[in-house]
Amino acid sequence: FGLSVREMAARWAVLGLLAACMTSAAKKSVLNMCMDAKHHKTEPGPEGALHDQCVLWKDNACCTANTSMEAHQDQSYLYNFNWNHCGVMPDKCKQHFIQDTCLYECSPNLGPWIDQADTSWRRERILNVPLCKEDCELWWEDCKDAITCKENWHKGWNWTSGTNRCPRGSICQPFKYVFPRPADLCEKIWSNSYKYTTEHRGGGRCIQMWFDPANGNPNVAVAKYYAQNGRDASPAPRAVLLLLPAALLSLL
Ligand SMILES: *[C@@H]1O[C@H](CO)[C@@H](O)[C@H](O)[C@H]1NC(C)=O
Ligand SMILES: *[C@@H]1O[C@H](CO)[C@@H](O)[C@H](O)[C@H]1NC(C)=O
Repeated sequence: FGLSVREMAARWAVLGLLAACMTSAAKKSVLNMCMDAKHHKTEPGPEGALHDQCVLWKDNACCTANTSMEAHQDQSYLYNFNWNHCGVMPDKCKQHFIQDTCLYECSPNLGPWIDQADTSWRRERILNVPLCKEDCELWWEDCKDAITCKENWHKGWNWTSGTNRCPRGSICQPFKYVFPRPADLCEKIWSNSYKYTTEHRGGGRCIQMWFDPANGNPNVAVAKYYAQNGRDASPAPRAVLLLLPAALLSLL
């Protein structure tokens, strides 16, 4: 054959590196992306006409103007979800649910927490998004006297009328009894879409539902941090690191 062992090793190492790089490129980055769900765009991009509370994401969004408008309606066509299932939800509470909807629909920075959903209406969901302490606590504070009959709003409703009604046997009572602590609200209401954290806004370690867009979107850096340091870091770069010494040695 005429190829030395060293030359063979070099070829294999280079092939391995190429394969690792291609795998890495083929895998969709978790940064700056939109999840595969009911109303999300396929790719994020500028949206000049986002409505009201969703306007924070206008420079780069996964939602359309239509979705942002609908996010502010009671009983919107998005999910037919009825906030007023135990009487009218006060506006100061509802604003947090609108903001939660804006973040969910519009944010291109939730990639590190996307998980398979396997439900009829969406293929992907978010799981354990580390919500900033302030965002969770203000949400709870403004909603503690609002009324609901359920802890998990993702399932267990009576949908026979086309919208969610309290299931028979459930009781309408203040949020503060259904969700005794802020963490109970943020984590349980959407079946662990959010995780309560003690991280603060502006620290780069938690996702903000509310922010001042004049200073840019703080969640860009947070997603980057967790993409690089999270438990589910992509395996492709690690393969490159393992193969690199072999490739270098073989060139000696
Ligand atoms: C958004 O689009 C849907 C579906 O095309 C439509 O039914 C709805 O009226 C639109 N909403 C607004 C606020 O334009
Ligand atoms: C669901 O609601 C309908 C009325 O809209 C009622 O007839 C039915 O008994 C309810 N079912 C349950 C399981 O609560």
